[in-house]
Amino acid sequence: MTILVTGGAGYIGSHTVLELLTSGYDVVVLDNLCNASAESLKRVELLTGKTVTFYKADIRDRAAVDGIFERHRIEAVIHFAGLKAVGESTAKPLDYYSVNVSGSVVLAQAMAAAGVTKLIFSSSATVYGEDAPVPYREDMPRGKTSNPYGTSKAMVEQILTDISFADERWSAVLLRYFNPFGAHLSGQIGEDPQGVPNNLMPFIAQVAVGRRESLSIFGDDYDTKDGTCERDYLHVVDLAKGHVLALKATEQSGTHIYNLGTGKATSVKQVVQAFERVTGVTIPYSIAPRRAGDLPAFWAEASKAFSELGWRAEMGIDDMMRDTWRWQQNNPNGYRG
Ligand code: NAD
Ligand code: UD1
Repeated sequence: MTILVTGGAGYIGSHTVLELLTSGYDVVVLDNLCNASAESLKRVELLTGKTVTFYKADIRDRAAVDGIFERHRIEAVIHFAGLKAVGESTAKPLDYYSVNVSGSVVLAQAMAAAGVTKLIFSSSATVYGEDAPVPYREDMPRGKTSNPYGTSKAMVEQILTDISFADERWSAVLLRYFNPFGAHLSGQIGEDPQGVPNNLMPFIAQVAVGRRESLSIFGDDYDTKDGTCERDYLHVVDLAKGHVLALKATEQSGTHIYNLGTGKATSVKQVVQAFERVTGVTIPYSIAPRRAGDLPAFWAEASKAFSELGWRAEMGIDDMMRDTWRWQQNNPNGYRG
């Protein structure tokens, strides 16, 4: 059975391609490499002893996407391709709506033309919005998003919901990720952000390896256990396995929504302490002002994915620290060596 993975050279995509291959699927990847390196897929091939068919193309290029459906008998699509930097999305909203929204529409049109109607979409906990009570449950309505990135995810969720309502052959699985951390246990693939990392884990890892001087913790005056923000961090390998299990849900038509999180909240200070405990490396930090748009604390109600897909996170925060550190030490400059 062949799965098309868009954005498959990226952080979550490459880990998912690896899990698909080891579960016996054939994989075709489309990625324009705007935020990834083809080296990730070469390493996935080495780790699995299997090959990946790779197309360097833009998701908005209808002819390129059609060509893939003509050449391969694709059973289902896992759609990661997109832009994900929240701050940049406020500065360049058109880029985000073009890639994330128009790109998803082009993909769905090409799928419909090819008669492929099973789609798994990378959504985000951010669609619950600013005012949702915690923990977030899948049956809550989507809330008010605070930036074009979040709005683009909410828009695509609605578009896919409408498509699967209109045509009963369609199945759309909307996976709402919480905060992925970590790297493959081999230390060969991991997160490789370009420029200054926006997210917490790659920033800590780059401080640890000496690429950056110190971490700024954005606010310690929140109403949380130690004043710093709390998030639901999950291991990227657990997240990748969630996609393989979610393929099961594409066998039933309609829209299916799952939170992929652990159900536990960890503060920024607790993450720093865990990294120091697991690696023995001290992370110098200072307290900086709050970052605009950050919510104090959110985590998943994670039981639906377990009861319906048999998925739950197996690894904890210490595993995420150990595996991030292994990846960062092996690849201090990411895939650039
Ligand atoms: P990533 O940037 O590593 O992966 C995205 C991939 O899409 C990259 O390989 C990039 O080159 C590719 N891409 C971007 N624009 C493209 C285009 N126009 N055409 C073809 N390929 C294109 O990010 P990731 O962390 O692996 O995230 C994967 C998906 O999950 C994204 O849709 C992201 O919004 C979503 N998501 C990520 C997180 C997170 O914390 N990492 C949380 C929630 C949702
Ligand atoms: C961010 C996005 C979210 C997106 C997710 C994945 C915002 C407001 N939210 O989530 O929409 O889905 O990334 O791409 O950007 N922190 C520091 N110092 C740092 C970096 C982060 O203290 O240098 C703190 C943040 O304040 C936050 C926590 O660490 O409390 C996690 O931050 P981050 O990794 O950026 O994830 P989110 O903000 O939860």
